[in-house]
Amino acid sequence: MKVCVLPGDGIGPEIVAQALRVLQALDLQLSFEQAPVGGAGYRALGHPLPEQTLELARASEAILFGAVGDFSLDSLPRELRPEQAILGLRKELNLFANFRPALVYPELVQASTLRPEVVSGLDILIIRELTGDIYFGQPRGIRTLDNGEREGFDTMRYSESEIRRVAHVGFQAAAKRGGRLCSVDKANVLDTMQLWREVVSSVGREYPSVQLSHMYVDNCAMQLLKNPKQFDVIVTGNMFGDILSDEASMLTGSIGMLPSASLNEHRFGLYEPIHGSAPDIAGQNVANPLATILSAAMMLRFSFDQAAAADRIEAAVRRVLAQGLRTADICEPGARQIGTREMGDAVLAAL
Ligand code: IPM
Ligand code: MG
Repeated sequence: MKVCVLPGDGIGPEIVAQALRVLQALDLQLSFEQAPVGGAGYRALGHPLPEQTLELARASEAILFGAVGDFSLDSLPRELRPEQAILGLRKELNLFANFRPALVYPELVQASTLRPEVVSGLDILIIRELTGDIYFGQPRGIRTLDNGEREGFDTMRYSESEIRRVAHVGFQAAAKRGGRLCSVDKANVLDTMQLWREVVSSVGREYPSVQLSHMYVDNCAMQLLKNPKQFDVIVTGNMFGDILSDEASMLTGSIGMLPSASLNEHRFGLYEPIHGSAPDIAGQNVANPLATILSAAMMLRFSFDQAAAADRIEAAVRRVLAQGLRTADICEPGARQIGTREMGDAVLAAL
């Protein structure tokens, strides 16, 4: 089983290195091949998603991804900026279903900025549509009007089939968990989102065992802070899912803890932490590798049917947290602060 490893920029190489050590320790007959992507792809081969990197991704069974983003390349034309690498991979590989679980570990309840009773025991799953919406809609651009003023524009769009397939993913995930699905939209203002609500409702008739509710995105942003435990599975579009999943990460204490899986209909997946490349702390051995290590566990579970090995990784992470070991982002008084590599060592020892 071949895993395409794309460390990317900033802290990407450091955190991916720790996840690789964990995967290698499990002795699962995985082979790994690395390629440059993002700013690293641009510097090495002139493009954020070089042709050979995409070819390697296509020839693999799964992708382990670090992060992309590099401020020093932000003045390049959009198609050459690092972020295009991850957007291109999602689109090219049809990775439309993005799983972003937000789980509060008992040991990290204090790391959240919310009161313990609001977040303790929290376990929600955000399913974000990943290949449509205003992220990819055409036309888009910046044009000059007749009066000489410039105007920026993007297009929010979803076809019925795009909504339907991610709705199915949402219902199936809810059926396997708490049986409740909340579809988040902005149907009170946007036509695209009115269609979203209609299609999700009609798919819902095929899942009588799942309790479906609808919520406007602004209300959802508020409810996530007010009473996050009311949610089981949330399904939403690309743009709203981007924003809500960052918000949900803070319920758990740190965005450095949250893994994700982006899947196509054949369970081919790209696995990445939901955080970014954090250039301000890159190369300092302070980044939290746990989101990437947990993403590797998701890879074993979803793409390789290795649930037992995934459980082992997750149990090892819990044990390390129980031992009071913390990277800077989740460190509280009384805990022991360690670096990126030492966190990898601790997870290996716990394994
Ligand atoms: C994410 C990120 C990306 C997104 C960026 C890096 C393009 O924020 O994966 O959530 O907006 O989807
Ligand atoms: Mg984001």
